[in-house]
Amino acid sequence: VKGVLAMASHLPPLLFGAAERAELRAEVDFDTVLTEFGSARAKAALADADILITGWECPPVDAAALAAAPKLRAVVHAAGSVKGHVGPEVFARGITVSSAAWANALPVAEYAVAMILLAGKNTFAIARRHRETRARVDLIRDYPEIGNYGRTVGIIGASLVGRAVLRLLAPFDLELLVHDPYLSTTDADELGAELVGLDQLCRRSHVLSIHAPALPETRRMVDAGRLALLPDGATLINTARGSLVDQDALENELRTGRISAVLDVTEPEVLPAGSALWDLPNLVVTPHLAGSVGTELRRMGASALAEVSRIVAGQPLRHEVRAAALATLA
Ligand SMILES: NC(=O)c1ccc[n+]([C@@H]2O[C@H](COP(=O)([O-])OP(=O)(O)OC[C@H]3O[C@@H](n4cnc5c(N)ncnc54)[C@H](O)[C@@H]3O)[C@@H](O)[C@H]2O)c1
Repeated sequence: VKGVLAMASHLPPLLFGAAERAELRAEVDFDTVLTEFGSARAKAALADADILITGWECPPVDAAALAAAPKLRAVVHAAGSVKGHVGPEVFARGITVSSAAWANALPVAEYAVAMILLAGKNTFAIARRHRETRARVDLIRDYPEIGNYGRTVGIIGASLVGRAVLRLLAPFDLELLVHDPYLSTTDADELGAELVGLDQLCRRSHVLSIHAPALPETRRMVDAGRLALLPDGATLINTARGSLVDQDALENELRTGRISAVLDVTEPEVLPAGSALWDLPNLVVTPHLAGSVGTELRRMGASALAEVSRIVAGQPLRHEVRAAALATLA
């Protein structure tokens, strides 16, 4: 079995640890990294490849690349979504596709949970006030509604991230709501959450966290009307994609000071330097920080190499992506 790497050239040392490399030294040439599929060098590597180990910035595995790779039987992605480089022609040739989306989902879920719990205590607003006044803050008098006991958290999308968020939130004394058109009541029960419609979720959630994929049907699903349903003092957290929120409507709602927001994703990304959002005190913007960064890349790399090892050992893959599921996946 021969594995070939295709991704941004700086990634392999960040994704793959020494121990994992050593284990697959016979099968994978970790020093050759394809960043395109058109050159003679790339075609020579593809001619021998049984497995393509892909990462961020992998070029599209299109008809020409497939023609150059007659032995190819698996594309193993060391990152989340495969939609950028794997199209229908890959599945049509019977090539198996695997993704490390589960491993990329964990840091997003951890980030969201951290923000959810901080939002529960109105942490950012109170820290800002404390800095401005440099005086004692009378929390009991001024913030009777804050706290993470018995409060309602709404999750949009029982995606890999959404499910991980619900699992991580299970030990806390929170009331959990979930909205997902593909989730059954039984599945929601197992996740410890009440399955509700989107409007009801907005009406009841003190903290609302968005985890649905960017699809035509999720575009601006959190619009002006739904933002207006949020209770006073609510916090909206978006680590999914900017397209899911009507950003102009959010800006208007934030201006009133009625709600707060944490945005890890925006439209566009990065916000224009002149965007009024930068100056809103009740908005925290982070630069697409929630997903795998730093040490977290290694979890995606380990996941991908474990899949390669399974192929080498003739075992079934653990994180296969099915063509039929693509339409509702991130
Ligand atoms: N901020 C970051 O760094 C970062 C990193 C990774 C993922 N993301 C984003 O997080 C989100 C979740 O990613 P994922 O990999 O867990 O997604 P995923 O592929 O697991 O999501 C698919 C699931 O979303 C649910 N879903 C589909 N349509 C829906 C709808 N209309 N309403 C509600 N739920 C719906 C379904 O349960 C479906 O199975 C995506 O938007 C993704 O782009 C962001």
